[in-house]
Amino acid sequence: MYDIPLFDLNYGTEEEEAVVETIRSNWISTGPKCEEFEKNFAEAIGAKYALSMSNCTDALHLACYCAGIKNNDEVICPSLTFAATVNAIRYMGAIPVFCDIVSIKDLTIDPKKIERLISPKTKAIIVMDYAGFPCQMDEIMLIAKKHSLMVIEDACHGPMSEYKGKCLGGIGDIGCFSFFSNKNISTGEGGMLTTNNDDIYNRGKLLRSHGMTTMSFQRATGHATDYDICEIGYNFRMDDIRASLGIVQLKKLRNDLIKRQDVRRWYINGLMNIDEVIIPFVNHTGFVSNYIMPLILKDSTKEKRDYVRNYLHENGIQTSIHYPAIHKFSAYQEFSRNLPITEYVVDNEITVPMYSSLSKANVDYICIKLYEAIRQFDTKN
Ligand SMILES: Cc1ncc(COP(=O)(O)O)c(C=O)c1O
Repeated sequence: MYDIPLFDLNYGTEEEEAVVETIRSNWISTGPKCEEFEKNFAEAIGAKYALSMSNCTDALHLACYCAGIKNNDEVICPSLTFAATVNAIRYMGAIPVFCDIVSIKDLTIDPKKIERLISPKTKAIIVMDYAGFPCQMDEIMLIAKKHSLMVIEDACHGPMSEYKGKCLGGIGDIGCFSFFSNKNISTGEGGMLTTNNDDIYNRGKLLRSHGMTTMSFQRATGHATDYDICEIGYNFRMDDIRASLGIVQLKKLRNDLIKRQDVRRWYINGLMNIDEVIIPFVNHTGFVSNYIMPLILKDSTKEKRDYVRNYLHENGIQTSIHYPAIHKFSAYQEFSRNLPITEYVVDNEITVPMYSSLSKANVDYICIKLYEAIRQFDTKN
């Protein structure tokens, strides 16, 4: 265990009580708690609909299905993301067309480069709001409109992050969220699909549960006695135990994010004068989730980045890399292309600890150790 982990759960007795209450209700699968969580989540992000899901990977899979992505269609997506964003495209037999990011200061997909990658086979764009900072959604939505493309937002990092007064996940055709333990809302496993489109919601709801026209809870409560299967679907459902955790976590979210803003400010103050460190999105002023705290080493190498990470590790500080590039993985070799900015970032990025209970003393210590590591490496080389 690290003295300062990368992430810490924001859990208390409220979560314990919520789970006990659900267990005692005698209904633990998809039911009223999922419905309540969906209603609250849709309201919180200003989307018309929210569908609770088993996880975000399944939400992305279902989103691709509902977006009508088929075999051999092309889908433009970032390579600087978690594998699930792109795996979902492959589940449909479609082709990921990797697009570079804006710059080492803005790690989101570049709309100008998106436009150059559009072909007659392009069906959709999947964007990912890195660390909760929004992609350039106005430009992306304009391109999508011009070329009749669907837009799926992988908003895993950004529950309640705002873009020009709107929350992420409610801007494109479909939004996908994750509630994996280390996310801003933690339910262990879990996810949410959001949309403002009636057809996508209705089809998504059916396909989430085998294509069945009624749910077990409706039958258990006497509101239905049988069902039809109108399309071959999946079991992508969340259960009421996780939903009850999600309801509590969602209530705590805004305060958690406000505290994270302080943590980010402490980091910026501590690192501002270290020339070798770039803080992506440093001048961003909108309200964001600050899911993670990424840093990029300037004029650096993978060797230097790994040295710095190891130094922090030896000093009890956990770090990570967000992310290894998808187009470099063996399973994605055939779709690889030249993405120079993404490639610089994957070799020179360090994610340092970020969570709402991180103290200023912890942040100061991390900044000092980071500075020491850079100096030590530079002296030796
Ligand atoms: C950007 C991104 N997309 C998708 C996922 C997949 O989410 P889940 O673990 O809920 O399937 C994650 C989770 O780490 C993620 O960070």
